[in-house]
Amino acid sequence: MPNKFYITTPIYYVNAPAHIGHSYTNIAADTLARYNRNLLGKENVWFLTGTDEHGQKIKKAADQAKLSPIEFVDQAAMQFRDLWSKLAISNDDFIRTTQSRHIKCVQKALSIVYEKGDIYEDKYEGWYCTPCETFWPKTQTTDNFCPDCKRPLENISETNFFFKLSKYQDWLVKYIKDPAHISYIQPASRRNEVLSFLENNKLEDLCISRPIERLSWGIPLPFSCKHVTYVWFDALINYISAVGEFDDKNIYHSVWWDKEVKVTHLVGKDILRHHAIYWPIMLEALGIRQPDTIFAHGWWMINEDKMSKSRGNVVNPLEMAEKYGLDAYRYFLLRDVPFGLDGNFSEEGIIKRFNGDLANDLGNLIYRTLTMIEKYYSGIVPGGGSLDNSGWDIKEKIGALPIELNDSMGTFNFSLALEYIWDLVNMTNKYVEETKPWNLAKEGKDEQLKAFIRLLVEAIRVVGQQIAPFMPKTAESIILQLGNAKINKTNPLFPRIEIKN
Ligand code: ME8
Ligand code: MG
Repeated sequence: MPNKFYITTPIYYVNAPAHIGHSYTNIAADTLARYNRNLLGKENVWFLTGTDEHGQKIKKAADQAKLSPIEFVDQAAMQFRDLWSKLAISNDDFIRTTQSRHIKCVQKALSIVYEKGDIYEDKYEGWYCTPCETFWPKTQTTDNFCPDCKRPLENISETNFFFKLSKYQDWLVKYIKDPAHISYIQPASRRNEVLSFLENNKLEDLCISRPIERLSWGIPLPFSCKHVTYVWFDALINYISAVGEFDDKNIYHSVWWDKEVKVTHLVGKDILRHHAIYWPIMLEALGIRQPDTIFAHGWWMINEDKMSKSRGNVVNPLEMAEKYGLDAYRYFLLRDVPFGLDGNFSEEGIIKRFNGDLANDLGNLIYRTLTMIEKYYSGIVPGGGSLDNSGWDIKEKIGALPIELNDSMGTFNFSLALEYIWDLVNMTNKYVEETKPWNLAKEGKDEQLKAFIRLLVEAIRVVGQQIAPFMPKTAESIILQLGNAKINKTNPLFPRIEIKN
């Protein structure tokens, strides 16, 4: 079992600001990184995000902003970094495709594959979708519209360089089907999708260059001064350029890309094919081991439509985090939709989770417990006492919770992990209602009251520890409020949002 963890997000195009969809992937990756740091130690986890800064649409956005491409991407990358820091994203590094460490690595990778004979020059004729930066073979389009984004395709004819995807098709199918690689593409539905695509289509070789007359904003090919690198061959390399280097013998070395490390790519399902077909073949051609897992999550939708900058229906994540609180926003995204499926985004949805799970359940449990400690014990958590039966049920659940979290986080099931935590919250609230501590106090049953309060504190402490990866600030506040023997009660954590009509 690997005892280190390397997690990546896609590197986002900088032509437009990030929306809720981008924040979703980063919040999910952040939660996994935080969870694994708690489990394996901080030094054994590496979390990478970054920006994808070359290509036609970036050039176009720079032109529109009346900036040079580099000025434009410098500004845009800053905005991404700033957003991630405001959303408490704990990435260890931030890769930009315009950095020299990356350019060097892309050029080296291209040379290696070229020298090996897996890249060749040829004439290309066919359809191209500029917004998606994707070639569409005639066999995959019925009309002249992009099968993905439905926008019109351009017909192009030019000399280009091609990467021999076709040579590796059988290898890839075998690799994915190997029972030892059952968790290579997740969830299983996406694995099946990739397999059935590969079994029903013959892969065409991938065009990995653009003539400089058509596009100058890219990494020059080391073997042709007339071409730059296609954005995907450039972008995918970020996962290795950020953490390692090739040596003189063309062997790649990295402490984070190694059999000791569980390497995980989180992506949206829109870019599954690039990650589950192009990338594995690029790595194989480079003689580099495969990642352990490529997990493709679903889409946030607005009224049945994917949220996307090109559709103009985006919601600003910072606005949501400022309006409802960062942790409530993070909670909503991870709790409301099982990871892997699509979900509908609405503010009513956030408010419902806020008033229910956060205000009524969690906030109330903490506030009422600390109030009792103030009232009955002047703010000092009592010692001693003896537990009743329902108390033992809670104790058992407290012991089981870390194991439940381990299972659900191991399968990227954030919503289930949160359900497990809330089972304890709800059990504990129910325990308060059934025990009626106010009666224990009135009747002078001090031994029972003491044990009861201590159990509540224990439950809340475990909840505080377990929600830390999901809601870091809330966890900090809970641990702080519980204090060390003496509590530090604050206002209720999630005051109800009143809905005005
Ligand atoms: O594809 N719901 O960048 P991109 C959920 N640069 N997630 C969403 C989403 C939505 N509605 N919209 C976007 C690129 N995302 C390339 C990647 S990687 C080597 C290069 C998230 O800016 C999701 O993670 O179009 C998706 O895969 C990604 O943003 C696409 O970001
Ligand atoms: Mg996109």
